[in-house]
Amino acid sequence: MLSNDDVTKFINSIKLVSRYNFEDYSERSFKRRIEKILVDNKISLNELISRIQKDKDFLEKIIKDITVNTTELFRDSELWITLKYRVLPNLKKNKSIFIWHAGCSSGQEVYSMLILLNELDMFDKAKVFATDINTDMLESAKRGVYRYRFNLNYLDNFDKVIKENPYNYEDVKDVPYSKYFEIDKAKDSVTMAKFLRDKTIYRKHDLVNDKNIFYSKFDIIFCRNVIIYFNNKLQNRVIEMFSNNLYRDGHLILGAHESILGAVANNFERTKGLYKKKAF
Ligand SMILES: C[S@@+](CC[C@H](N)C(=O)[O-])C[C@H]1O[C@@H](n2cnc3c(N)ncnc32)[C@H](O)[C@@H]1O
Repeated sequence: MLSNDDVTKFINSIKLVSRYNFEDYSERSFKRRIEKILVDNKISLNELISRIQKDKDFLEKIIKDITVNTTELFRDSELWITLKYRVLPNLKKNKSIFIWHAGCSSGQEVYSMLILLNELDMFDKAKVFATDINTDMLESAKRGVYRYRFNLNYLDNFDKVIKENPYNYEDVKDVPYSKYFEIDKAKDSVTMAKFLRDKTIYRKHDLVNDKNIFYSKFDIIFCRNVIIYFNNKLQNRVIEMFSNNLYRDGHLILGAHESILGAVANNFERTKGLYKKKAF
């Protein structure tokens, strides 16, 4: 078991040799991640710190190991249903729609949005950007190849959001999976269609240090299941940055267990787990 002082020592050792700064990550889950890294690498904290300081590649590997990358296609299907029926129709008249997925992990959230946009005939007008601190995840997102068996509930989620209509049970659309991805059960893979893979601009971006790197404001910013790993101070700073980079009436979309606390909450109106930027 690591003490709080151990964690501080580890964080300071990273700060000494890089611009990564984990001091405002939420303590409990961060401590668990370091403990896992020690077990996986079979080393002591002092050995870990000494290797991090000598070996830049090892440091990058540890940064990747620290991040939690769980994600899923159409994760929390109710959210996607809200987007489909309550949010996206209001953007249909726009000439373009700017979307940023911050903390996109291996890209399933990005592909969910692209599929939804295509179903609503809004694909061409969307400009889609996606970022993460973990470059292995960005590579995986670009490849768009996932394990089939591990992700079986993808198909359930897809049916709920894309084929069914919760407001009218008779309205069922026959959308074949092959329109968007190819399933190869023998190879245990799901491969996203090329037109989806080619759409998004992926960049490395650290929410602790970096501001908006895209020279545009956004209609929708997704940052789901990311700020849950940050303390309140960092959460507020990141939300403030998002608020400054949303168009009026733009939406910030957080994870099911995340919410906006503090003064910055006044910038938004909350409906069904979505935060709409207020007009000032
Ligand atoms: C649990 S995943 C969420 C993926 C997706 N948004 C979803 O909800 O399904 C959290 C992601 O946040 C990324 N992350 C953690 N700290 C970050 C930071 N400081 N800047 C950018 N991304 C970060 C991790 O690398 C990870 O891919």
